[in-house]
Amino acid sequence: MSELLSDHTTLRLGGPARRWVRATSEQELIAAVDEADSAGEPVLVLGGGSNLVVADEGFDGTVVEVATEGVVVDSETADRTRTSVCGGVMVTVAAGEVWDDLVARAVVSRWVGVEALSGIPGTVGATPIQNVGAYGQEVSQTVARVRVWDRRLRGVRTFAAGDCGFGYRTSRFKADRYDDAGGRHVVLDVTFQLPVGDTAASVAYVELARALGVELGERPSLAAVREAVLGLRAGKGMVLDPDDHDTWSAGSFFTNPLVDPARVPAGAPSYPQPDGRTKTSAAWLIDHAGFAKGHGNDRVSLSTKHTLALTNRGRATTADLIELAREVRDGVRAAYGIELVNEPVMLGCSL
Ligand code: EPU
Repeated sequence: MSELLSDHTTLRLGGPARRWVRATSEQELIAAVDEADSAGEPVLVLGGGSNLVVADEGFDGTVVEVATEGVVVDSETADRTRTSVCGGVMVTVAAGEVWDDLVARAVVSRWVGVEALSGIPGTVGATPIQNVGAYGQEVSQTVARVRVWDRRLRGVRTFAAGDCGFGYRTSRFKADRYDDAGGRHVVLDVTFQLPVGDTAASVAYVELARALGVELGERPSLAAVREAVLGLRAGKGMVLDPDDHDTWSAGSFFTNPLVDPARVPAGAPSYPQPDGRTKTSAAWLIDHAGFAKGHGNDRVSLSTKHTLALTNRGRATTADLIELAREVRDGVRAAYGIELVNEPVMLGCSL
């Protein structure tokens, strides 16, 4: 029997795959992708399935499930940090490792710089692709290098942070395409450079500072930041819980639009960017365009905890989800003239 993508995505949507390979070593991962590429078969490289919308028809190609493991801590730098709180560790993590396990380990190991990224679903290998970010941190701030399999050159390459093309929810790994189904680069492992210390990175997000009862720029303990972020995320349905349909989502469904400052509606959040544009809030636009939390039906709806998450109430199809996404996008366009762009990867479907 063929595997269903709906068993491997946090939305619990998506039809069957033609072929399925679970790669538990880097060699298996490269071989599976390269064999399919040589045969001209489409490939879906699947991590945690937390940022993915798959068509009801499924995927007519090979799914390569990344299940590689391993965390290597550079012992030389690790030793040095025992005597100095200023030093840093280099931690190299296999693509298939669970992201939040790494964050939990960082917090107990006194590795600083990813604590605000607590509770984000998915695998480590996926984090550089969309430059995962939340509560004032982005992985681009701590990624030192990314090792990939380049499907075009058919070889392993290492990109230093400066060559990764990181931007808001994007990178060269998202931008460089191999074909419609997949990116050119398959992430093999990610090396993070993390300072060692007892306090977190300075708090850079108002909502987080408020939850912690500190001022922006203060440095609470790593554990306090992790706990506060997990609490905030849970309150928005952004921590996976099989019993809570508000978490059957792909996280934020739309990116926050970057617009000319004059286009930001009165009263909407506004975050000026270095390039002169302003980032406004997709969640606010959705809310104020008339789509309240919970908008939808008994198959698909906006989360009852956050307007930016589209959720499967248990019996949804991908077609239902796309219909709701279009309704929201069109409603925001009609109300504010701003075009919302989907954040998750769409496979075999589009808005
Ligand atoms: N708001 C509403 N209605 C709502 C929710 C929010 O009007 O139902 C307004 C409020 O004014 C709020 C503003 O929207 O102040 C922003 O909301 P929030 O702080 O929750 O942040 P967000 O813009 O919705 C972004 C990221 C999240 C990340 C959080 C916290 C994107 C697309 N989303 O959400 O990332 O966790 O900030 O940093 O960048 C993800 O990318 O999947 C994701 C969850």
